[in-house]
Amino acid sequence: MDTDQIRMTFVDFYRERGHQPLPGSTLVPPPGDPVLFTTSGMHPLTPYLEGRPHPQGPRLVNVQRCLRTTDLEEVGDSRHLTVFEMMGSWSLDDYSGPQSVRWGHELLCERFGLDPALLHVTVFGGDGLVGPDTESWRVWEELGVPVEPTREDNWWSSGATGPCGPDTEVFVWTGNGPPRGTPTTDDRWVEVWNHVLMRYRRRGDGQLESLERPSVDTGMGLERLAMVLQGRESVYETDLLEPWVSTVQGLWPVGSSLRLVCDHLRSAVVVVGDGVRPSSSGRGYVLRRLLRRVLTRLWRQDRSHTLSDLPETLIEVTLQHFGQPVEGQQVDARVVRRLLMDEQDRFDRLLRRGRSVVSRYRSRGELTERDLFELHDTHGLPRDLVLGVLSESEAEHESGREQLPGQDHRQGLGPA
Ligand code: SER
Repeated sequence: MDTDQIRMTFVDFYRERGHQPLPGSTLVPPPGDPVLFTTSGMHPLTPYLEGRPHPQGPRLVNVQRCLRTTDLEEVGDSRHLTVFEMMGSWSLDDYSGPQSVRWGHELLCERFGLDPALLHVTVFGGDGLVGPDTESWRVWEELGVPVEPTREDNWWSSGATGPCGPDTEVFVWTGNGPPRGTPTTDDRWVEVWNHVLMRYRRRGDGQLESLERPSVDTGMGLERLAMVLQGRESVYETDLLEPWVSTVQGLWPVGSSLRLVCDHLRSAVVVVGDGVRPSSSGRGYVLRRLLRRVLTRLWRQDRSHTLSDLPETLIEVTLQHFGQPVEGQQVDARVVRRLLMDEQDRFDRLLRRGRSVVSRYRSRGELTERDLFELHDTHGLPRDLVLGVLSESEAEHESGREQLPGQDHRQGLGPA
């Protein structure tokens, strides 16, 4: 199954069970929402999960693009992406958790054809405040799926306050040979789906209160399911990411940074497609940070690498996949490419300027805290960038050639 078929199968399954399909929203939440980006399928539904009746009824289904910067450092492994898609189903004060679990099992095994023997789940085992999720536990056992109880890992919340509750997570065995261990002891168990029993609201004072209208909220990672169903070892080998991998591989020999470059560039395209522009704060800064992380890797290999090599067709295909431009946005592949190049020029200028200013300071000796403050305050050179430029000068000095600094977290990610 390719990813389009997976999406359709998911939505159709829930439509057949009375769920209304909702269009996915953009990555940019509406004004007044405190988060920078939509981080999960449930996020746009928060008021309804807290009890407000939804105009389209109590059963909903959708596929929502999400962006998580909390996983940025994990990007590059086989299963984390910055922008990803979550297939979600909701029961707003309608059917219960056990029904959600039963349908989930049916969908995975009968529609998607997963071998039931390759499943393992985790459930909330209870803590001092809330008892164990015995309902889900019992149903999974009836279905013959092994269960592992945990505490923190099976408590879901989207933030410090708001709707939350115990969850049950579904894992698929991806190792060779028969399954071994449990989800918490063997990482060849890959989490694909999460069914959350939204029964509580965390108040500002940290206390839990029961929701009058409890809900069930599920979210399944499209790319991870595609990886499992397509028998791939990483999400980058699925039909969705493969065009990015083969294109980037052909353009720039970025070695072990291949996944990161693909993920960040693709994410940057989607973020721009949703109307974000690079800037020194907020969403624009996340975009800038993604691009600078890419450029740092490209230039470490060869200073002449340029984002203008990126073919417009790949940008176009990506925008189309995400239904972009969304209404009201004037974005096409040419605009995106131009914007990436402008940002590249800006970073290039900043590096050049930074290098000469920092070397003036360094000619007086080691940089002091005061120097770092002055470089930021007077010259607009953030600490991270200065430390990066500093290592670069040392690396150049040692190797006698131009190259970018070697330590990722110190490189030019500042807000200038
Ligand atoms: N809220 C859950 C998650 O993001 C399921 O939608 O994983």
